[in-house]
Amino acid sequence: MDRNLAGKVALVTGGGSGIGRATAIAFARNAAAVVVADADAARGVEVVKLIETQVDARAMFIQVDVTDAESVKAMMRSAVERFGAIDMAFNNAGVPDRAASLHVSTQENWDRVMSVNLEGVWHCMKAELDHMLIAGKGAIVNNASRSGLVGVPSDGVYGAAKHGVVGLTKAAAIEFAARGIRINAVCPGLVDTALTRERFGDELLARAQTANPLGRMAQPEEIADAVVWLCSDAASFVVGVALPIDGGQTAR
Ligand SMILES: NC(=O)c1ccc[n+]([C@@H]2O[C@H](COP(=O)([O-])OP(=O)(O)OC[C@H]3O[C@@H](n4cnc5c(N)ncnc54)[C@H](O)[C@@H]3O)[C@@H](O)[C@H]2O)c1
Repeated sequence: MDRNLAGKVALVTGGGSGIGRATAIAFARNAAAVVVADADAARGVEVVKLIETQVDARAMFIQVDVTDAESVKAMMRSAVERFGAIDMAFNNAGVPDRAASLHVSTQENWDRVMSVNLEGVWHCMKAELDHMLIAGKGAIVNNASRSGLVGVPSDGVYGAAKHGVVGLTKAAAIEFAARGIRINAVCPGLVDTALTRERFGDELLARAQTANPLGRMAQPEEIADAVVWLCSDAASFVVGVALPIDGGQTAR
């Protein structure tokens, strides 16, 4: 089984930056047509241009707010109208927890983190499943986190959302496997992106050196490769996993 995705169409939410950007490019390098969906139009359009000019693959940008179910449905409609189908979806759009500690976490922080990181994934899965169930095939990967597998201090709200993403992934994976749709999650550790820099600021490099046995952050491309593999036929028997990609951090 190979990872040639020619003739297939991939959707990446949060595709304008970080892990989503790297995954959109990786899908394109494996010959898929790519829908880059993001709230930030400037960044999303830049990724589409890069794919068209440097990878020579087909791509389109759709502005979406994953917290809004109607916006997500419109995203799916536009994508299918342009490319005919969505075969693979990476539900990746996310925001960091802004709380220093759970007991001082605000309602605003809870609402923002839950609505983007958990409810947003649910909205996307619903719209993707509506489409994939008619097609009778598809692959979905949700971006959870190491914080979706273990407790991480000062990441309580984010961790609750990401544990929720793992729960949604496993339940849906079991429910829809027999109908041709494979659903999995990735659980990255520290990845060198804008989100991580916003979350940890000046502490980041020191944190990365001790976070895992490799003593460094991942590059977004190291997560992207796993997502492309999970969506490809090379992972045809992989269903309902929450795959740690964290340099061994959760193995400790
Ligand atoms: N960076 C890490 O260390 C790390 C680790 C584990 C998991 N993750 C998860 O990976 C995902 C991507 O994170 P990243 O580090 O690449 O972040 P990033 O900030 O580089 O990219 C996130 C993207 O999501 C988009 N986005 C935010 N809210 C949105 C919304 N409501 N609708 C549509 N798009 C929206 C942003 O515009 C941005 O382009 C997130 O779900 C994050 O929780 C990141």
